[in-house]
Amino acid sequence: MTAHHLLPARIQLLQELAHTYGTPLYVYDMPQIARNFTAFKQAFSGRKSLICYALKANSNLSVLRLLAELGSGADCVSIGEVRRALLAGIPAYKIIFSGVGKRDDEIKQALELGILFINVESFEELKRVEAIAKELAQELESKDQKLESSKDSLQKARISIRVNPNIDPKTHPYISTGLHENKFGVDMDSAKQMYLYAHKSAFLEPIGIHFHIGSQLTELEPLTQAARKIADLARSLLALGINLRFFDIGGGLGIRYEDEVPIDLYDYAQGILGTLSGCDWTIVCEPGRRIVGDSGLLLTRVISQKHTESKRFVIVDAGMNDLMRPALYGAFHQPILLGYAEENSALGSHSGDFVDSMVFNKNAPSVASSQATGFAMRNRGFQGGGEGIYLGDNEQAPAAESTIYRAKPTPKPSKAESSSEQPMPKADIVGPVCESSDTFCKNIALPPLHNGALLGFENAGAYGYSMASTYNARMRPAEVGIYADGARLIKSRESFEASVADELALLDSSK
Ligand code: LLP
Repeated sequence: MTAHHLLPARIQLLQELAHTYGTPLYVYDMPQIARNFTAFKQAFSGRKSLICYALKANSNLSVLRLLAELGSGADCVSIGEVRRALLAGIPAYKIIFSGVGKRDDEIKQALELGILFINVESFEELKRVEAIAKELAQELESKDQKLESSKDSLQKARISIRVNPNIDPKTHPYISTGLHENKFGVDMDSAKQMYLYAHKSAFLEPIGIHFHIGSQLTELEPLTQAARKIADLARSLLALGINLRFFDIGGGLGIRYEDEVPIDLYDYAQGILGTLSGCDWTIVCEPGRRIVGDSGLLLTRVISQKHTESKRFVIVDAGMNDLMRPALYGAFHQPILLGYAEENSALGSHSGDFVDSMVFNKNAPSVASSQATGFAMRNRGFQGGGEGIYLGDNEQAPAAESTIYRAKPTPKPSKAESSSEQPMPKADIVGPVCESSDTFCKNIALPPLHNGALLGFENAGAYGYSMASTYNARMRPAEVGIYADGARLIKSRESFEASVADELALLDSSK
């Protein structure tokens, strides 16, 4: 969820949700997820296509149910994800199973479930899939189950091969996958050998070809370059009598966290389709972040504040265990101020939340004033007006119209102006986890806040909750979906009792 979705009623709702369910709290804009999915579908609408949402970005069952209802397939990287997809109503024939390290038992279950295909990552894995398919066929025969249909689906494992095109996707090295130095996929020559092998096997059916060169991509060229290379390979296979049906272009499309310019979906589809002329393959794509990323907001409250000689720290109740991306990738999630302090909060002396929202830019000047001079309205899609408000330490929160601001990269103020302006103190927003990397933003211009103030980190819908952990024995947050007809809890906060129940039982049983 980004600030431009935050109309006054929405801000008030977020305050209520934080009050009802506590913080930290993940909140998702469900219609936004639906719009993002539909945009993908439309981009490829002139062509046979299957959008397989990548569950790793966010696998909450309510998110998956929504996508299932819109016709989504699923890209899964563990049998747990396959089971989640099925539970949410995504049919097996729309599920693909990818990942560089699949266990035998996972492959076996995937074959038994009759998913669409397995994306194979090495010759060794191909032979394991073949051996498992053979075992299953023999098991079935020995059980004397002669039903032709089930025999067919079990005997031949439908596979696709992940080809590594050795193309630099120009993204963060941790999420770059398309170079030979990365552990993913096989080179073009090995892929050819694998297809020839699979083609001759009685237990393998090669039906697709796959590539995925990285995540949070903002340049189209590496993607079309990869597609061209892989399409050429698929055409050369056709000449060898291997007729594939699915061209799987992976995921990876970036979103705007800060100032990135996302790839236009229409350009993306046209760019890819332009490499496939004369071929009738069904396009499979595996978007994750682009479907859910901008739908999510992580709500958190200020616990405490700390001033050292050189630094100001604003300590919030979300930590790197809740949202790991800043600590792991140095990622930036725009913080927005949604309320000053909770009503009747023991934490703050302030008279209550007010309906206002401010967005802070990490490049912001450290100047603000009680007039509007320090802020520019953040107006991507936001209709309305209002003045920037400096929240002085003891200032009564004004009954302002809801407005959304970001600090403006202003030119230097004139002497006359600057004399009336107070510097807006910069702060690091940090979590409570015992690691220095538990830092959300550094040196961000932030007005003085009361403890209890409500903040939100934007664009937390992808790889937020799904990468959360219980590090420091911190319970994972609750998740709420905002639907057109209201907000609903879609996952409860983990309880301490549930988290220790198993260990306690085992502890007692060992006495
Ligand atoms: N398909 C494959 C084979 C993948 O490896 C991935 C992501 C996707 C699809 C979905 O990519 P997306 O459309 O979401 O970019 N935790 C990192 C991102 C890791 C992505 C891993 N693979 C982050 O928070 O940025």
